[in-house]
Amino acid sequence: MKSEPAQSSPEPLVFPPLDPAAPPVLNAVQREVLRLKRERKAVILAHNYQTDDIQAVADFVGDSLGLSRQAAATDAEVIVFCGVHFMAETAKILNPTKLVLLPEPTAGCSLSDSCPPAELAAYKAAHPGLYVAAYINCSAEVKTLCDVICTSGNAVKIVSQIPADREILFVPDQNLGQWVMRQTGRKMRLWPGSCYAHVLYSVASIESAKAKFPAAPVVAHPECIEAVRDMADIVCSTEKMVAYCRENEADTFIIVTETGMINRLRREVPGKRFVAGPTDLCGCNDCRFMKMNTIEKLRDCLANLAPAVELPEHVIRDARAPIQRMLDWSD
Ligand code: 13P
Ligand code: SF4
Repeated sequence: MKSEPAQSSPEPLVFPPLDPAAPPVLNAVQREVLRLKRERKAVILAHNYQTDDIQAVADFVGDSLGLSRQAAATDAEVIVFCGVHFMAETAKILNPTKLVLLPEPTAGCSLSDSCPPAELAAYKAAHPGLYVAAYINCSAEVKTLCDVICTSGNAVKIVSQIPADREILFVPDQNLGQWVMRQTGRKMRLWPGSCYAHVLYSVASIESAKAKFPAAPVVAHPECIEAVRDMADIVCSTEKMVAYCRENEADTFIIVTETGMINRLRREVPGKRFVAGPTDLCGCNDCRFMKMNTIEKLRDCLANLAPAVELPEHVIRDARAPIQRMLDWSD
């Protein structure tokens, strides 16, 4: 990939440590969310990329794997999923009789959209016998066509367990797939999909952040392009980023993933400074889909018990098997 000169990249956004003497104060909308949550006996699950005001009222904040495990284990009758559509679908597949709410129902995912079910079905028909491993960032219908699901947190572990005599098709993220191939030594056919937000990081933009913070480890998500992953001190899922920054003795980290991650890091890794990995366009990187949920939409969906995620029965049945296989294989 051709890189611009490092000095042309925007100034990265820097997040100083939170003041430990200033306890978090909830605003009126957040307090209303907590009241409605109790009234509705709901659980709020939020992805690490959600806004800080949503993360602050959630029962659980985590990565896709942690959120799937929470969704599988919850006994709450109402699950409010603050994330994107495929994540709420996964919660519904694991809890078909429960009410699963998504504050903004049009919150999609470019990566998920890059693998339409009809195209995958046609590819499978043209290449029979492939073992299909899918990153969880895909639609429920695509999941019905797959043998096993994985997240960025368990992809290496899952792919390593696929029978050695099977040829693998990995969908939809070519970047995660490439990274897994390097980690496992297992050759796979890769679907040509990618996350629009993570591919915005470039060698030049990360070099410019490194030049400003030379002692800061670079922490990158595997959805980044290979040249950016090669610059990182660690490549991992968003959950593993929390443990890495907590255990590493550095006081400043360059976080090469969606900027909402820094909300979680600031709360759970006190005393450290986080620099948002810049792209060639901006000093931070918000996913436009993740940021469609707002605290007001969260309040309204608890008040109205809508919008709910609905899926046909056969989709729930056929998508559940590969998700369950993932949960079994990642224990
Ligand atoms: P994680 O499972 O690592 O949180 O990633 C989810 C995602 O959508 C990354 O773009
Ligand atoms: Fe999808 Fe990328 Fe947004 Fe994650 S960051 S939800 S992969 S578009």
